[in-house]
Amino acid sequence: MIEEIILATSNNHKVEEMKKNLNGLEIKVTPMTSFCKYPQTEEDGKTLEKNAIKKAKDAAKFFNKWTLADDSGLEVDWLNGEPGVYSARYAGENCLYDNNKKLLLALKGVPFEKRTAKFRTVIAISSPNREIYLVEGKIYGIIALQSLGNNGFGYDPVFYVPEYKKTFAELSIDIKNSISHRAVALQKAKEIIKSL
Ligand code: IMP
Repeated sequence: MIEEIILATSNNHKVEEMKKNLNGLEIKVTPMTSFCKYPQTEEDGKTLEKNAIKKAKDAAKFFNKWTLADDSGLEVDWLNGEPGVYSARYAGENCLYDNNKKLLLALKGVPFEKRTAKFRTVIAISSPNREIYLVEGKIYGIIALQSLGNNGFGYDPVFYVPEYKKTFAELSIDIKNSISHRAVALQKAKEIIKSL
């Protein structure tokens, strides 16, 4: 049985979401940022899977403990899956706030029903000796015709969820975090951790 798992992310929002979703497991969940030193993995993989595995393995090697790492991206069908693994830097390095503008421009004139997309999260769990367990979470939606809503982050204002008739940014954080790609992947990760 696992006694402790290290969350291999330096993003505090992710830490909170991961902790909430892993709640109820009888193990210690420790963010790597609670240590003075932790690995700074370069996310240079060409797929979400490669990046998640690299982050989980780097942390497992560094701490010699069980680790969990994730990588997410927005895959737009009209753009053949772009921005995908490059979602964070779609409009260029350090241009987080222009990503939505760039996406809306790329889809200018594309009708609503053809703006289908999905958010995908891949989670890699690594054992101390770097054996990997992979899970995936997805949520399907539509790229809105304009930005709507103020909650959340990243592409939330342009990701419209048909079941709720709202963008992610118009949903409460609690609802978003219960249906999101990350939540789905984390629930699967929880089942794996339970079984180890
Ligand atoms: P990460 O790998 O989880 O850091 O995600 C990479 C990028 O995908 C982020 O910088 C965001 O631009 C985008 N992204 C991932 N998850 C979400 C989400 O839940 N809402 C909005 N954008 C997201």
